[in-house]
Amino acid sequence: MSFKRVDQLPLTDECKHYDSVDEVPWDLQKYWHQAYSLFQYYDDDIRLTDDAWFGVTPEPVAVRIAQDLGTISPPAKSTIVDIFAGAGGNVIAFALSERWERIIAVEKDPATLACAQHNALVYGVPEGRITWVLGDCFDYLAAAKDGDAAVKDRLEPELQIDRATTTIFASPPWGGVSYRDHDVFDLSVMQPYGLKKLSQACEPWEYTLFLPRTSDLRQIAKLAPEGKKIEVVQYCMEGASKAMVVYVPESETV
Ligand SMILES: C[S@@+](CC[C@H](N)C(=O)[O-])C[C@H]1O[C@@H](n2cnc3c(N)ncnc32)[C@H](O)[C@@H]1O
Repeated sequence: MSFKRVDQLPLTDECKHYDSVDEVPWDLQKYWHQAYSLFQYYDDDIRLTDDAWFGVTPEPVAVRIAQDLGTISPPAKSTIVDIFAGAGGNVIAFALSERWERIIAVEKDPATLACAQHNALVYGVPEGRITWVLGDCFDYLAAAKDGDAAVKDRLEPELQIDRATTTIFASPPWGGVSYRDHDVFDLSVMQPYGLKKLSQACEPWEYTLFLPRTSDLRQIAKLAPEGKKIEVVQYCMEGASKAMVVYVPESETV
């Protein structure tokens, strides 16, 4: 299986904290100027890989999503799985919301995962509160949810999840064609994972997608399970949308 539960990973040279703009690569400088919007406690040694700067969810948005998901998701859901944990923007907010009994965070890049673990400690999330998984989230979801009991049984207890009590949160990379260049962003060309791959990996479970603000609503409407509604919310800061978030209830069929 190409994933494993991990304890605190050591920080590496890739887990950086920039103190002044002259240390920052030119293509990150715009993001560095927004560091306190991303993490209000940036100065307390928040660590990011250079790639993570582009994808981290700003803290006010992450906190609001955690509040909203906490109420949109029915009380029976007590486990949340953040399948693209990145440097921890969302999963820290989920932990601090105190809504979830269990929190599982999956990230495939070890340096980014080390940053997330470290950043969670900076934010006062106790060690052990989040179960960290290093590896491929599609492999993990397939193993955790498919009908193959033999595969499922091989998962250690901390990684076992069931449909009745679990919700999935996905903030995938928004690569490929830039969504900024399109009034309506075609989610089928998003790289490396298009909408179909993402929704198929999550269905029939309840799940949430964190997507570009211009995402095509016609494609999103097709995610609604028969007879159920989905919620679509634009999360804004300073008068501009940062993301479109889609809350999809579980479907009846297994
Ligand atoms: C947009 S970032 C997530 C940012 C995160 N929500 C935050 O606030 O810090 C997407 C992350 O997904 C990770 N990733 C990409 N493909 C993955 C996969 N198949 N399994 C697990 N993680 C993956 C990337 O390494 C990247 O860190």
